[in-house]
Amino acid sequence: MPELAYINGRIMPIDDAVVPVEDRGYQFGDAVYEVIASYGGKMFCVKEHFARLDRSMRELNFPKVQIEGISRAANELFGKAKIERAAVYIQISRGVSPRSHAFPGKIPVQVVMTVRKIEEKNPNIRETGISAITIEDIRWGRCDIKTVQLLPNVIAKQKALDAGCYDAIFVSKDGIVREGSSSNLFILSGGKLVTHPLATDILPGITRALILDLCSEKKIPVEERFFDKSELYEAVEVFLTGTITEVLPVVQIDGRTVGNGKVGSAARMLQEGLLGRLKSE
Ligand code: PDD
Repeated sequence: MPELAYINGRIMPIDDAVVPVEDRGYQFGDAVYEVIASYGGKMFCVKEHFARLDRSMRELNFPKVQIEGISRAANELFGKAKIERAAVYIQISRGVSPRSHAFPGKIPVQVVMTVRKIEEKNPNIRETGISAITIEDIRWGRCDIKTVQLLPNVIAKQKALDAGCYDAIFVSKDGIVREGSSSNLFILSGGKLVTHPLATDILPGITRALILDLCSEKKIPVEERFFDKSELYEAVEVFLTGTITEVLPVVQIDGRTVGNGKVGSAARMLQEGLLGRLKSE
């Protein structure tokens, strides 16, 4: 079960993989990425992840890339690594070129992938729920594009850990609750599940879309609308969603107890529903 890397068609052990210093992803954050999870030796939601990767590149005017070829390469790499429960990371930068802010002329994009085992560091968190802090959202205006410019996310996560919490929730300057540092966010409020509408301020999460789909299947009422920090504090349930995160209940925010402080039934049911989808895909 080797942890492997791929760089522009070459596969190697992850520790041997290096990229050139003038990769634009390295110097400018001029790169997009995806993370795909596998369960029982099968990658989940592959089509959706590659569609979003393609969109991210189009939004940033990357040169046209044959996304099917990259998807095939990811599949080949994953097959070689033979890791049942893996995170497949795919990053595409605008290429390698002498440092200059403007886009380079016609050069090939640089494709990097890794396959690593997912280790559940805190196996109890789905039972106990997690605590979170809120933090001002200082990210750029296109959070709908999945770029590697993640410094505000990195700082948010570290602030949460430093505060003895698990994660951070971004809240805009004017009080609108956006999403987690690497996840989307739902609350149960007024008998409905509520989540931020798709906009340039959040990532259009693949897990978020799956949850919305599950809700419509189970006739759970949902509202995609803005809500503020006081509604977050008053919510009966709060949970994060994401590829690695799955459905993760939040039971404490900024030191305040959410609902009754226990994992709620909506989060529990949707986590089960999500795992059910994995098995049926
Ligand atoms: N993060 N919002 C942000 C800011 C994210 O970084 C992510 C995913 C999500 C959830 O999207 P999805 O359901 O498609 O995974 C929402 C990935 C996993 C990461 O950066 O590791």
